[in-house]
Amino acid sequence: MQWGNVGVPPKLSYLLGLSKKLPEGISFFRPVEIPATQRSNTRFMTTLTHHEQQTTQDALQLNGTDYIEFYVGNARQASYFYRMAMGFSLIAYAGPETGRRDRASYVLQQGKIRFVLTTPLKPDNEVAEHIHLHGDGVRDVALWVDDARLAWKEATRRGARSVQEPCEIADEHGSVKMAAIAIYGDTIHTFVERKNYHGAFLPGYKARAEDTLARPTGLLYVDHVVGNVGWNEMNRWVDFYASVMGFSLYQHFDDKDISTEYSALMSKVMANGNGRVKFPLNEPAEGRRKSQIEEYLEFHHGPGVQHIALASNDILHTVSRLQKQGIEFLRVPHSYYAALQARTGRIDEPVEELEKLGILVDRDDEGYMLQIFTRPVEDRPTLFFEIIQRKGSRSFGKGNFKALFEAIEREQGERGNL
Ligand code: FE2
Repeated sequence: MQWGNVGVPPKLSYLLGLSKKLPEGISFFRPVEIPATQRSNTRFMTTLTHHEQQTTQDALQLNGTDYIEFYVGNARQASYFYRMAMGFSLIAYAGPETGRRDRASYVLQQGKIRFVLTTPLKPDNEVAEHIHLHGDGVRDVALWVDDARLAWKEATRRGARSVQEPCEIADEHGSVKMAAIAIYGDTIHTFVERKNYHGAFLPGYKARAEDTLARPTGLLYVDHVVGNVGWNEMNRWVDFYASVMGFSLYQHFDDKDISTEYSALMSKVMANGNGRVKFPLNEPAEGRRKSQIEEYLEFHHGPGVQHIALASNDILHTVSRLQKQGIEFLRVPHSYYAALQARTGRIDEPVEELEKLGILVDRDDEGYMLQIFTRPVEDRPTLFFEIIQRKGSRSFGKGNFKALFEAIEREQGERGNL
């Protein structure tokens, strides 16, 4: 089905790639002065209590992540990687065969995680321009909402820049309401309201039968999505998520937490009211050598999504499958595991197993968590994935930062970027 046949307003063409992206140097964010009465949202505290989280205003009524769309140079081949190596199943498709002329999109699903891989079919559309500038990477962190118009209206009223006014699209399976706002770099949030839709993904996409290529790895849902922003821009984006999106500060880390002998970064984690959407934001900090965030900004040509954390409830199984299927992970030295239990106390998993796979562990006062990071999944040192299993802990692995960043720096050095 062609989008043009289902009553799509012209501005939807931005999302569909018919219009151009903003010129370089144009800010996506109109700074907003936060009235003192609203500043309670931006209290800088290490962790919000459960009660504080429950009572946080969630003006946009976000239910969680709806999908993450990547713009890639060759979606057919990328989908093979995400199915055969990462374990996703192809569930829907839109392209020339379904009446779309300028791009093709493959929709992949595993657990509740939905990735859309979109590739341009022409050299002069915004998908092609995005890839030319940024390489393969994330364009859209779409959010599932009860009311797309309300979310867009609230966000734009509070200062977000609109990239898509609310619109409704429909096919024989029902209708979906969508709207979108700009965030850091060339990245956007699309608000998706799908309570009246029963198709495979969105109107215009054709469902695919069972995927016989897919090799599932036990990935369940998106735990968090991390953005890298420029020098001294972290607090501006923290304010954006607080004042525009109604998020609260969940955790923060300064360069004392996240520095090695050579490089440093600062990070704050913003979360929505129900805690289902968590967006850490990183900025580079001064160090003796180039920060990993600077390396990202250089190769991505500006701010963008740095990593996506995907949750498993059996990380030993998930990581062992992923490794067998060709996913490469960062490794930390043996000394990390020799000192592990002294730091974390008793854990359920055998340390030898964790070391064999390279899984890291961190504990806080609520429990512990296990995590591991892939190497970048493109030739540019930009986007990578984290695999995470939480056992009570709501932390982001502060105790692992030093070991981890030393591992990243070893690789940065090998690329000649340290
Ligand atoms: Fe993470």
